[in-house]
Amino acid sequence: MASRTETILRHGFEDFREFVNPLIALRAELSGEPATMVRALDGRLVDRQGQAIEDFHGTQAFGHRNRAITQAVREFLDSDSPSWFPSRVNPYAGSLARRLCERANRTLQGERHAYSNAFFSSSGSEAVEAAIKLARIVTGKKRVLSLDGAYHGCTMGSCALMAKGPYRDPFGPHVPGLSSIPFADSDALAAAFAAGDVAAVVVEPIQLEGGVRPLTKEFVELLCTLTKEHGALLVADEVQTGLGRSGKFLASETWPRRPDAILLAKHLGGGLLPISAMLTRRELFEQAYGQNFETSEAHNCTFSGSAAVCVAAHAALDLLTDELIDRVDRIGTALRRAIQESLASLPLFAEVRGAGLALGIVLRSTDHPWLSFEHFGMGDLAHQPTVGLLLCHRLYKRGFFCFVCGHDWSVLRIQPRFTIEEERLAEFVRALQEELSYLCQLV
Ligand SMILES: Cc1ncc(COP(=O)(O)O)c(C=O)c1O
Repeated sequence: MASRTETILRHGFEDFREFVNPLIALRAELSGEPATMVRALDGRLVDRQGQAIEDFHGTQAFGHRNRAITQAVREFLDSDSPSWFPSRVNPYAGSLARRLCERANRTLQGERHAYSNAFFSSSGSEAVEAAIKLARIVTGKKRVLSLDGAYHGCTMGSCALMAKGPYRDPFGPHVPGLSSIPFADSDALAAAFAAGDVAAVVVEPIQLEGGVRPLTKEFVELLCTLTKEHGALLVADEVQTGLGRSGKFLASETWPRRPDAILLAKHLGGGLLPISAMLTRRELFEQAYGQNFETSEAHNCTFSGSAAVCVAAHAALDLLTDELIDRVDRIGTALRRAIQESLASLPLFAEVRGAGLALGIVLRSTDHPWLSFEHFGMGDLAHQPTVGLLLCHRLYKRGFFCFVCGHDWSVLRIQPRFTIEEERLAEFVRALQEELSYLCQLV
């Protein structure tokens, strides 16, 4: 008899189309995305046709179904340890909080003590919500700012801090007091502080979905200064950039002032289980939730830091050694250089930017009528650039699952696993060069 897993892998893809999201299924079909993944193999995925594919989405920093992580979770499941603690005094959350704070305090510039408290939830968006609420309760102010082009998640608070567009606009009215200012614009930041009502500024050190755009040094310096002067919380959304992705443990760890809150998610659960965290200082937590017993649990979620996910996070941190982070920095720098050199002469290539293994390849657009979304029968996408998606389509066939940035389809987002072999990256650069050259001949 087929196991439950086998049955799901046989019928679940069609069930997804019917019961979850038909348009996502149709899009995958039309764009030739390898969607019927049935196996994980050495960090990659294998589809029904037997094609192995390297996933560049970035959630699987240790490779799909990393053995050490599955083993740690299996050992926990085979034990008789409690998994959920009715008193909420949870040793798994406790030990993970200690470990994350201690690791975050150790930076490339030595020990920079900043974090002594953690709040856990399941998604990046919930970590953003935790920061919004912390900022309001600690400062007594209402206004929370983000930067244009941001991606902070889809719950109502984080959605209000998102880039304008389909992820945000249809869902108004938005949470009052939450809005964005122009990206990395020092004058706009200074003007926003003039009214004296800012509770927090939430920023991504590098906007990934916004087009892999790093904040400038000048803007970061002003951000650090103004938030301190005005007693506003500086919140670094490191859901994408954190946990080694930028070639440092935290992309913000060398900023002149350490953020009051750091948000982590994505591969915190080893890519296997969902967990997110907000790291902050004990004084801030105590101001917010430590004044009396009634409010001590005023912000919580039922499965905050439940055991299995914390075990997966511990296993992920075991893997995330200083050597591995150095490797991300080294191979990321080499990859960026190789991409720059091999694509430099191609007219559809503009630049490559980012840090570590969070790179963005900026592509020029074309107005060739055959290469428009209208030509492919997707008129509602007529305003969007096509070259990035056409390139993705061609790269799927070469075994690489690439993505364009959610808010900027002219940028190809490259976020390989940290353990990827250097030969495979060289193979990727070759495929990229050949496929973009092919598209250049068409325009
Ligand atoms: C920077 C950033 N913050 C927050 C989120 C939201 O995370 P989640 O999808 O887990 O809610 C994302 C998701 O991609 C993100 O990129």
